[in-house]
Amino acid sequence: MAFTIKINGDSHSVDVDDDTPLLWVLRDVLGMTGTKFGCGMALCGACTVHIDGAPTRSCITTVDSIGNSEITTIEAIGKTEAGARIQKAWLDKQVVQCGYCQSGQIMSAAALLAGNPNPSDAEIDDAMAGNICRCGTYLRIRDAIKHAAQAKPQGGRG
Ligand code: FES
Ligand code: FES
Repeated sequence: MAFTIKINGDSHSVDVDDDTPLLWVLRDVLGMTGTKFGCGMALCGACTVHIDGAPTRSCITTVDSIGNSEITTIEAIGKTEAGARIQKAWLDKQVVQCGYCQSGQIMSAAALLAGNPNPSDAEIDDAMAGNICRCGTYLRIRDAIKHAAQAKPQGGRG
């Protein structure tokens, strides 16, 4: 069945089964491989994208459930104000180790910062709890989110 979905400000037409997960559409149909497959069962957070600004596990989000919602992926999160600050903080604090989980980590962190400009440790831990990192970068992630919260907004669309 044909679907038109909005991703990073552009409309994309795809012809897939109704129950195809968004993650498969992004990676296999559209070639947007920044969003990662980890578990396929909403347990690891590697596949996190934003749907209307909310962090969402794309591995369990079927294409027929998306409708007119706006999807943002790691490829465009740097165009948002919070996403740009998070990405800069990730570099400043050298968060990444192997990198596999980090697209999802950044998407969850950007959603947190967009909705909460000055999150506490507990709020950070709560917002990031669903994003697993096998390299154990959790302390650097928390540090980078605080660093991003203290950075001055540079403009952009939030
Ligand atoms: S791949 Fe989606 S939560 Fe793990
Ligand atoms: S940086 Fe390696 S899994 Fe998180």
